[in-house]
Amino acid sequence: MSFIRTPRRWVPIAALFLFIVALNHIDPNSRVHYTNWTTAKLEPLSPTDVARVAALKSLVAVPDDPVEFANDRDKGLAWRDVYTAYNAAKLRELAVCNAHGDCHPNANKVILFMSTWCIQATFENFIGGEGIWCKGMIGSLERQGYTVLYTNDEGSEHFVKKLYQQIPDLIKIVVNDDGFEGPRNLDHRPFYQKTPTRPDGIPLWKVFTFRYFGSVHPSKVGDRWSISAEPQWREQDTPWFENYTYIGYDIPKITGGTPSSQRPYRVWVYGKRSVYFDSSEANTAMWPMEWFERARKELVQDYPGFEFIGSIKVENVENSKDQYYIDNYVNKGMKEVPCPEGIRNLGTLLPKAEFERELSQVRVMLGIGNPMTSPSPYFALANGVSFINPHKRGPDKNRQDDYREWGRVQHSTLRTLSEPYVYNVEAEGDYSLFIGAIRRALDNPIDPYVSEYHEIEGLDERVREWMETDWEAEAQRILDLRKQGIETQNTREAAVFEM
Ligand SMILES: *[C@@H]1O[C@H](CO)[C@@H](O)[C@H](O)[C@H]1NC(C)=O
Ligand SMILES: *[C@@H]1O[C@H](CO)[C@@H](O)[C@H](O)[C@H]1NC(C)=O
Repeated sequence: MSFIRTPRRWVPIAALFLFIVALNHIDPNSRVHYTNWTTAKLEPLSPTDVARVAALKSLVAVPDDPVEFANDRDKGLAWRDVYTAYNAAKLRELAVCNAHGDCHPNANKVILFMSTWCIQATFENFIGGEGIWCKGMIGSLERQGYTVLYTNDEGSEHFVKKLYQQIPDLIKIVVNDDGFEGPRNLDHRPFYQKTPTRPDGIPLWKVFTFRYFGSVHPSKVGDRWSISAEPQWREQDTPWFENYTYIGYDIPKITGGTPSSQRPYRVWVYGKRSVYFDSSEANTAMWPMEWFERARKELVQDYPGFEFIGSIKVENVENSKDQYYIDNYVNKGMKEVPCPEGIRNLGTLLPKAEFERELSQVRVMLGIGNPMTSPSPYFALANGVSFINPHKRGPDKNRQDDYREWGRVQHSTLRTLSEPYVYNVEAEGDYSLFIGAIRRALDNPIDPYVSEYHEIEGLDERVREWMETDWEAEAQRILDLRKQGIETQNTREAAVFEM
């Protein structure tokens, strides 16, 4: 009896002992071991093994139609449900092609977009400026066989890191929205970062910031770790220069439409919201509202059938908390900021196809100050529509012939293009400059124009260079110099980081 009783008594004690030993061996910083896909030896499938091939293929379910997902989201799916399903399918696809040995040569080079803009662009067809950029970039990556995955930080904080840790060698680049400033930016999130005690974190030299407007987002590593939709217009050797990595997007040239010279005398007024026309300081409208009707009356004399048209959302400010609207509209008994007189308003934001149809029947797009640096003027040019790009004066009144000295410019990059494509006009209250530019633009119809920056070949080349650059070596070089006290980067957050 005692022979049996003794071990029984020891069972819970031994279990507790083993549990404590095990606990001591779970080091929160120790590397988690996942299959190393670079070296994993996967049994190739025989093409005659029909059942196994079919079973594997059934696992690979990347949806063809992202709109399906958007509909699911209406049914209560969160973005994270959408992109995790998509990522899982992509990873299965990768596993299958690795097992077959028939992957695209670039498939094992993975880019991870930690970007709500790009999730919206891919899964909900979002076509604001950032969406157009995401679509262009991702289109190019997929055309060249790279694998694209998505995350944002909706829901699980750990998700990005967990995804990264499954394929750390395959993930070449992580793109982070610039909206994630402060604690939401990967750069500021020690939790994700590789450190001496967290070797399975994401090294900062893989993290690039998504910055639509052409400027550098501060990074601990260097200036080039900031990508942009807009090409560089500042010269290398000037204080204006910012050394970001230009990626951009492509714009198709529209051919075979009505030549501009045969279109009606029609000017598209590019202002999506009626408040954009209000010349309060906050809205930075470039032209006084009453100039539209005044110009229309004059122009219709010389250009038969002339009209200003637009697709403008008339905004209700009845319940606005903004003192400006209260003083200037509500207290004067107005519920709405009206669309200026003299513009034929087609109504709230036309769908893309309708907008393009309208664009193919106008000669000129007239900027009014907002929205800034959007893709629409590029699409206009590609449609044979010239663009009037207004700007404010800069502080040095004597140097306004130099476009670098200008103040606010509606389309920052297009300041470098000149007539007959782009009419850069100072908007400081001189009506003759306004009407003069419209007349010149009506008199000089253009052929569809796409700059070399927006050609698809150039985009693919930049994307390839981005994916194939040895960023680790670049970062190492910067870091080595930094540790010797030599700073080569302009980014104001330059710091020592873990390779
Ligand atoms: C996977 O294997 C490659 C090639 O041997 C090696 O360079 C890499 O460090 C390995 N990755 C991990 C996470 O162990
Ligand atoms: C911009 O970055 C590139 C690549 O690191 C470098 O060769 C070049 O000198 C930099 N230019 C300036 C003006 O900092």
